[in-house]
Amino acid sequence: MQAITKHEFRQISQLLKEQCGINLQDDQDYLVQTRLSDFATSLGLHSFGQLFSRLQFEPERLLPTVINLMTTNETLWFRDDSCWNALEKSILPALFKKLEKGAQEIRIWIAGCSTGQEAYSLAMLIDEMCQRQNAAALARCFSIHAMDISQAALETARHARYNDFEINRGLSLTRRNKYFEHQGQNLWVLRPNIRLRVHFANINLTRDFSHLGRFDLILCRNVTIYFSADVRSKVLSAMVKMLTPEGALLVGATESLWGNRKEFKEVQFQGAVYVQR
Ligand SMILES: C[S@@+](CC[C@H](N)C(=O)[O-])C[C@H]1O[C@@H](n2cnc3c(N)ncnc32)[C@H](O)[C@@H]1O
Repeated sequence: MQAITKHEFRQISQLLKEQCGINLQDDQDYLVQTRLSDFATSLGLHSFGQLFSRLQFEPERLLPTVINLMTTNETLWFRDDSCWNALEKSILPALFKKLEKGAQEIRIWIAGCSTGQEAYSLAMLIDEMCQRQNAAALARCFSIHAMDISQAALETARHARYNDFEINRGLSLTRRNKYFEHQGQNLWVLRPNIRLRVHFANINLTRDFSHLGRFDLILCRNVTIYFSADVRSKVLSAMVKMLTPEGALLVGATESLWGNRKEFKEVQFQGAVYVQR
């Protein structure tokens, strides 16, 4: 495989920006080179120019794999303590109150869910909070929709099977033993009571997603860091519009400064920041 030229890098990075919002910097040609070389070779291609041409001719067949390879799916359980503290102490209690007042369903969207850890962490936390209230059945009122552009990440998420390395990143032993079954030497399988509470779907956040409806809680963390500032602002502004009146949007620690501040208010809670309409 020939080394990528500046021209080829510009072509491929422009395509990635259009297709999924990934905004590569001028010096990130090595990322395309390392992540797409084997794929291009497997197609019998010898240069990135040839790969770019093939992507133009067969986008539906080839782009999903390119997106799988170029997205960064780094994730872990209960990532960022202050966020989970805000969920447990402030955001979720307000949603439980909404149920007490007669709401039938609490709709939650995990946007950019990667391999499932964030969505399942939330399902575990809700389960624990319901048990503390002696109201295990209440957990069924929370519908959790987790979405990602990467088909490969979603497949892992749906299977909910994790190896020792993955399971040990952020998950306490108590939660591990309570919610997972140890299968074989190096495999942990999430029990169905939590797995079946999360519904996974494919989505591209750089396309219109307003048809998804209203949500009481949206988590979009460590996703828009890969987008340009204008795309990030557009995506997050659209999400704010989809919040119910008392709903909350949680973004990653480095993603909180964006958009037209008249559209939303920022709530500070013990080191975490979330957004409401
Ligand atoms: C770094 S992971 C973050 C996972 C999780 N939210 C967390 O904080 O641990 C970013 C995820 O965003 C997804 N993503 C990137 N661009 C996307 C897009 N345009 N639409 C939907 N998901 C996207 C990637 O596939 C990846 O799984």
